[in-house]
Amino acid sequence: MARFLITSALPYINGIKHLGNLAGSMLPADVHARFRRLQGHEVLFLCATDEHGTPAELAAAEAGQDVRAYCDEQHLIQRAACDGFRLSFDHFGRSSNAPNHALTQHFCEKLEAAGLIEERTSKQVYSVDDGRFLPDRYVEGTCPHCAFERARGDQCDNCGRLLDPTELKNPRSKISGSTNLEVRDTAHLFLLQGKMQERIRAWVDASTEWPHLARSIAYKWLDEGLIDRAITRDLSWGVKVTQEGRPRPGFENKVFYVWFDAPIEYIAAGAEWAEATGGNWERWWRTDKGANDVTYVQFMGKDNVAFHTVSFPVTIMGSGEPWKLVDRLKAFNWVTWYGGKFSTSEKRGIFMDRALELLPSDYWRWYLMANAPESSDAAFTLEQFQQTVNADLANVFGNFVNRITRFGASKFDAKVPDGGAPGDLEAKLAKDVAERITALTRHHEDMEFRKAAAELRALWVLGNEYLQVAAPWTAFKTDVDYAAVGVRTGLNLVALFAILAQPFVPDAAKTVLDALNIPEASRSWPKAGDTGLLDTLPRGHAFTPPDVLFKKIEDADVAAWTEMFGGG
Ligand code: MF3
Ligand code: ZN
Repeated sequence: MARFLITSALPYINGIKHLGNLAGSMLPADVHARFRRLQGHEVLFLCATDEHGTPAELAAAEAGQDVRAYCDEQHLIQRAACDGFRLSFDHFGRSSNAPNHALTQHFCEKLEAAGLIEERTSKQVYSVDDGRFLPDRYVEGTCPHCAFERARGDQCDNCGRLLDPTELKNPRSKISGSTNLEVRDTAHLFLLQGKMQERIRAWVDASTEWPHLARSIAYKWLDEGLIDRAITRDLSWGVKVTQEGRPRPGFENKVFYVWFDAPIEYIAAGAEWAEATGGNWERWWRTDKGANDVTYVQFMGKDNVAFHTVSFPVTIMGSGEPWKLVDRLKAFNWVTWYGGKFSTSEKRGIFMDRALELLPSDYWRWYLMANAPESSDAAFTLEQFQQTVNADLANVFGNFVNRITRFGASKFDAKVPDGGAPGDLEAKLAKDVAERITALTRHHEDMEFRKAAAELRALWVLGNEYLQVAAPWTAFKTDVDYAAVGVRTGLNLVALFAILAQPFVPDAAKTVLDALNIPEASRSWPKAGDTGLLDTLPRGHAFTPPDVLFKKIEDADVAAWTEMFGGG
């Protein structure tokens, strides 16, 4: 038994996430956490809402709410959606909670003591009418490159170029619209990442378990040279800047930059979990307190990789303290909505809350993982969703379960039949199943979600092919013992298929396992290479056929949803 610390990138607080966000970190992290638990490992699976920064302040202002009240409300909404999708976090925390404030301040002080923090004065836009400095996103103006009139201070949404707010033409305050702006000197704390360059490179060199995408992004940043970065901002919502436990002089109106405190919440979520459960979080996070034998796995979208392979490691390594660093990192490309962007404002695409109003979570979970954006972006289309759900879940898995359990109930008294002896067909099947389970297990261990889903589907197909040949319904008329072998093998397959389906479609799997009266202790992941899996249910064991597992998605559904959410 090993120990796995698993984190998903923390969803921003501003608004419910869409299916693409879900597919790129939280969902695969959940599938992996479930898989590792089923293998019998000890798992701590953490996530939280990422609540600071300008996006939160701006969204609250737009909603006409106080930012704290806004975050309280949005956190609950997101948590409900995560529960609805059966994301099995051991804790879903908040970066605005006390443990993260304390830890963020702690890290800054440790970094300063290690000579990695410097106060620097820089030029920044000051709004005379608002009486404050404006963070990048609070300045709007005309893009100097493409003349787009609503470019943000940090980036132009039209041409995509990164900007400095002082470059904008006709700048105005996003808070008040005022154009009475000046460029003034202001102090910020800088994290001297340049000094950590060699230590980070050595660590990346040694991190051989990262997939190619993550390593190449890390090297790209290292090759360009790590840049010292400002870790404070002129905002009031966030973690206050302290020095020796007191407000830092000159920083009374500033807070830490959201990307400085957010990843620290991974650790703080552990502290929150400990507070809530009485668990020991340091055993997971401190290598001097037992975390040495922990494998730490992170899940995230590709835009987050640099922060996880460079910035956050600078913070925790630079502290000089023995914090647990990431061992395995799984990054995803984007899920697009018919090749374009999901957009709340333009009502394009399906978001987590609405999805659950349409169909149970398993349908979405299966589709999103079977089409995970692993080697490239993946387009979500309702047509492909319909096709995948109907083919894999309704026709292959659901139909298999229903056929054999119904037949077994009507002809064998809803008990696992006792008669007959398995023959060559069953021996061959057992061997094929064992081989496929070995492959499925490997894909899960490698976090290759598409391949894992394909392998599971192939197993279900194998079951259908077996029933096609064994045909107990025909055999029953002439050779009841032979039919008994078919039904018994079929029922064992049903149990096995459901056990193996648990990481992907936990609700449907549970329905099947409950209907088969499989005790909790017998639902764990099978050992690789076991060829005895087709005869594990006790003879005479009673079961009940479950209701139809998955209903088909009709063309009329697709038409209606296209109308509601925009289509191709
Ligand atoms: N909120 C960020 C995003 O959605 C992810 C933060 S991950 C963490 O892109 F590392 F900061 F925690
Ligand atoms: Zn532009």
